[in-house]
Amino acid sequence: MDSINNKNTFKVSILTLFPEVFPGPLGVSLIGNALEKKIWELKLIDIRNFAKDKHKSVDDTPYGGGAGMVMRPDVIDSALNSIPDYKGRRICLTPRGERLSQQKVKKLSKEEGLVLLCGRYEGIDQRVIDYYKFDEVSIGDYVVTGGESAAIVLLESVIRLLPNVLGGNETLNEESFSDNSLIEYPQYTKPRDWNGINVPEVLVSGNHGKIKDWRDKKRVEITKIRKLDT
Ligand code: 6GU
Repeated sequence: MDSINNKNTFKVSILTLFPEVFPGPLGVSLIGNALEKKIWELKLIDIRNFAKDKHKSVDDTPYGGGAGMVMRPDVIDSALNSIPDYKGRRICLTPRGERLSQQKVKKLSKEEGLVLLCGRYEGIDQRVIDYYKFDEVSIGDYVVTGGESAAIVLLESVIRLLPNVLGGNETLNEESFSDNSLIEYPQYTKPRDWNGINVPEVLVSGNHGKIKDWRDKKRVEITKIRKLDT
């Protein structure tokens, strides 16, 4: 990737052992177009390049014993120091982190950029997380093998909120919802009759008041059902 220098560009640096994962899903559709338009920029730092020994080791056994390997603080430190021009918050993706929410996503989208550290193995030495004041973020209460997929989820949610990423329609749509804590209403498109199942009559009535009432009612209904599950 090009060096990061464009003003107003949301500057993303990712520290990872698997740079080949990126941009992946971030390279297509609205987010991919925004990358091409330099609304955001991606700088990949391969942590392994900062290993200290001939075996290129980036992890070691945990003090106190236990399963798995822990990422070394000195290697991550060197990797971080290779990006002196970083902007915005530093975030470490780990299942131990604070759960990501739309509220947090909104805050992050107001930054000048982000530095993301993707955890692998059993974890990352806590000293480097504390020293560099990383926010620890998780994408939910389940475990995936590494922070890379979590970083993609986080970035998709943040970048779509940057100015000029969504087309006019999507933006308007989002603002028209009075209550963002409600789940979306169900959507239907053509054909009107599919396998003998018809689109709800109200949606083809042309009565915009009634359509809005129906959609509001559906949002409340489905939100109640889903929230009971949690
Ligand atoms: Cl950020 N990392 C991993 N490895 N697992 C997770 C996660 C992050 N968030 C939820 N599960």
